[in-house]
Amino acid sequence: MCGIIAAASNRNVGKLLVQGLHKMEYRGYDSAGIALHQKDQIAHLRTLGKVKLLEEKMIAEKPKSKLGIAHTRWATHGEPSEENAHPHKSNERVYIVHNGIIENYLDLKEFLKDEGYSFSSQTDSELIAHLLEYFLSKGNSMVDSMYLTKEKLDGAYAIAAIDRENDQNIVIARSKSPLLIGIGTDEFLAASDPLAIGQLTNEFIFLEDGDVAELTSESYTIFDDTKQKVSREITHIDISNQATSKGEYKHFMEKEIYEQPDAILNTIDGRVGGDDVLENIFGLGSSDIFQKVKRVQIVACGTSLHAGRVAANWFSAISELPTQIDYASEYRYRNPHVDEDSLLVTISQSGETADTLAALRYAKEKDYLSTLCICNVPTSSLARESEYSIFTNAGPEIGVASTKAFTTQLAALMLLALSLAKSRNRNPKLRKRIITALRSLPDTVQETLKLKDEILEIAPEIASKDNALFLGRGIFYPIAKEGALKLKEISYIHAEAYPAGELKHGPLALIDEEMPVIALAPESEIAEKLVSNLEEVKARGGTLYVFSDPSISMDLKSGRLINMPKCDFLLTPIIYTIPLQILSYEVALLRGTDIDQPRNLAKSVTVE
Ligand code: G6P
Repeated sequence: MCGIIAAASNRNVGKLLVQGLHKMEYRGYDSAGIALHQKDQIAHLRTLGKVKLLEEKMIAEKPKSKLGIAHTRWATHGEPSEENAHPHKSNERVYIVHNGIIENYLDLKEFLKDEGYSFSSQTDSELIAHLLEYFLSKGNSMVDSMYLTKEKLDGAYAIAAIDRENDQNIVIARSKSPLLIGIGTDEFLAASDPLAIGQLTNEFIFLEDGDVAELTSESYTIFDDTKQKVSREITHIDISNQATSKGEYKHFMEKEIYEQPDAILNTIDGRVGGDDVLENIFGLGSSDIFQKVKRVQIVACGTSLHAGRVAANWFSAISELPTQIDYASEYRYRNPHVDEDSLLVTISQSGETADTLAALRYAKEKDYLSTLCICNVPTSSLARESEYSIFTNAGPEIGVASTKAFTTQLAALMLLALSLAKSRNRNPKLRKRIITALRSLPDTVQETLKLKDEILEIAPEIASKDNALFLGRGIFYPIAKEGALKLKEISYIHAEAYPAGELKHGPLALIDEEMPVIALAPESEIAEKLVSNLEEVKARGGTLYVFSDPSISMDLKSGRLINMPKCDFLLTPIIYTIPLQILSYEVALLRGTDIDQPRNLAKSVTVE
């Protein structure tokens, strides 16, 4: 999703801005652009497509500048094109980059047209440049103009702006879209993502909603919503090069799949002790609050929602709590009834997903006992706005398709199920059994990664098809859904998931030799029923690829049976996720797609 970077420095900033855009490529985008202040004029370069093309343009034109703004755009209003790419400008004077959505843009456009402004793009963002120019031309300072502009804007935004008549200052503003300041050496930076400037500094200031700030190469000043000067906390984050480079791997997704044993260890580490989870691992006072919980409501999007679907089973089986789960984008609009002593749980890798954040903010107006988030980014808005939190400690996830974030979310959600059970005095023996299994989980994941060779043999068969069905039952149905999502998002093969028992109620009509069926068949009390469901596929000539426990015997006519490592049943969803990730990756590799940045998708969806 759109990424912003800005720099005011004593050195040439063109290269560092483009490097920052490269670091944000993982967020997903369709075009890129830059505006560089050059004393009496502004160099303005934009390209449709990859940042590399913008870089080539820069190499050809060699613009020099100590003050600039740059952007990667993910289209919302207006198609992906050079005209719609940011920065947008007004009267060759004001240049802006914007992340977010301006909801009242039609009214504001009318107002600006009446004032004589003409529009050269289809975006909602361009009007921000015109509004700023409108107020600047009336003699207001940049900061005052930003406040006057803010008064007119409804919606979500992170903005960075420069003025041709001022070669010292960048003004930035934040409302509901992430934006931070980086304190560099002889320079100040701004970005939507610490990763963009992590090579230049490890000191960051996360702006709050309503903040406006002014940056020069010498200093920064932050004003709050009421235009009072404020000081905001400086956060230290060490973003090492290693965490943001592919190393020996072809893609970030591949690297992130193979990082999972360590990532899961980091999620569990320091949070379990003896035979149980430690107290208050979700924050001081959380164990006491958990005693009172009578119901759980989960909201999340995409892969994080699938983690929530698995966890709903755990909350029931381990914590003995009823759980409701909603798509974050739907939750607010179904007028949810909140039962007494309900805990709201949000799950998000980035902690910046607009729908999940909006659901949290909505829920805070309701009578929840408390709010808790499972998140991978401690500095995110979700983490800051939730009462309790646990961080998955997976390290930066760059591939758009989520892998290690998902399995670490599951590990963290298991810790939540155990903590709720502990505070409520439920199932001590079961807790002990799970803790033992959790301790060996990183090793089991490591063993599961060795299935790659077997998966390489089936990948070409799936890669040659246009559709695929994924089947799972019970706690494995969300894993089947996650498997289908992974395949469709990176290989563009149409894939659907069904609880295997539903097959005969419709999808069976799709079965023929062109429809590979990927099934999850762990040892369980319904294993026999699942095998019967798979027989239905076999009888109709479907090709089955079954990931199963060695105890399950099946005679396949075609396809393949792949034996999975043994693991405690309640943790098997994590194990069965791994081969599905590897399969999607290898299939996408064969189909030659853009694995780390699939078309049309964004890593962090900061618009509703
Ligand atoms: C986007 C990403 C998905 C992710 C979803 C939710 O759609 O492409 O991989 O699952 O957002 O993101 P979150 O950061 O809230 O987990």
